[in-house]
Amino acid sequence: MSSLRTCTIERHFIEQQEKHPEATGELTRLMHQLAFAAKQITKEVRSAGLSDILGAAGHTNIQGEVVQKLDEISNDMIYRAFDHAGVLCCMASEEREKMIPIPNEFHYGKYTLAFDPLDGSSNIDANINVGTIFSIHRRVTPEGTPGTEADLLQTGREQVVAGYIVYGSSTMMVYTTGHGVNGFTLEPSLGEFLLSHPDMRIPKRGTYFSINTGNYHYWSEGVKRYVDHVITPNNEHGTPYSLRYIGSMIADVHRTLLYGGIFMYPLDFKDPKNPKGKLRLLYEAAPMSMVIEQAGGLSTNGKQSILDVVPTGLHDRVPLFVGSEDNVYELLGFLDKFDH
Ligand code: AHG
Ligand code: MN
Ligand code: MN
Repeated sequence: MSSLRTCTIERHFIEQQEKHPEATGELTRLMHQLAFAAKQITKEVRSAGLSDILGAAGHTNIQGEVVQKLDEISNDMIYRAFDHAGVLCCMASEEREKMIPIPNEFHYGKYTLAFDPLDGSSNIDANINVGTIFSIHRRVTPEGTPGTEADLLQTGREQVVAGYIVYGSSTMMVYTTGHGVNGFTLEPSLGEFLLSHPDMRIPKRGTYFSINTGNYHYWSEGVKRYVDHVITPNNEHGTPYSLRYIGSMIADVHRTLLYGGIFMYPLDFKDPKNPKGKLRLLYEAAPMSMVIEQAGGLSTNGKQSILDVVPTGLHDRVPLFVGSEDNVYELLGFLDKFDH
């Protein structure tokens, strides 16, 4: 492995490719394009607070154009990084109801990309971390043909690459190809992602729990009892767990990866006949779960690993519990006892 200071994400990927023949040059190109889109989105996110000032000063909206929301801008940047790159056969985005085709037959590639262009975007005006989540599968339909939904509707277990980019105090890309997890920090003056967090491992147990407690009365009995337990003084953990919840899953899960603990977005029973999860399987829960599991943690929907949940539609939602091994097992004990 090359020295940390000089290992760019592209170089790291090529080194991985040498070790793992299943990674191809196409995937390296794909990662390169992803890194490029991440740099462009970083630029937009970093100047988000200025967009009104710039818009007013330049009268750019005189034609009636509205300033696009950053969700839309990020979506377009990722689309444009991939529509003619020759590596994808189709895409799916949180911002588009239907599958996104590759426009030109000369550019059909071997892979699919499902993405959340900007996760946590309701936080952006408050200068709170947001991010991009990505999930890559190998297509199941023949090469050289247009991609179909079947290429995208695969389990998390079948992801070839999964990860996220968090636009925080620095921009960081964290990804896995199924051989551990590595994190890269964008060096702004070089414009390069450099390996800063090799072989990331989540602590076996953590003392943070992360959940929107405003929904407490809509949770299942098992989730309520678990949360009651972890905040009980003098429980077997000694002190109560601390609550951390930003409302940007990407930031909440990234912190969980680094410090340990558990992140939860359970079903809520606001409509008791129709309980719903919030987070989407393909481009939120599955890629974040693969990262956490590859770092030594666990993910579950309460019944099985998130990575084994079979999608039926591009925007399927799932309950999500993800984090340190001990914390997830403890939660499962409560779900078994009170919910099943
Ligand atoms: P997005 O910004 O992509 O729509 O996702 C927002 C998600 C996720 O980031 C976060 O964990 C969750 O919404 C927060 O939901 P609540 O406000 O219901 O807690
Ligand atoms: Mn999201
Ligand atoms: Mn989003």
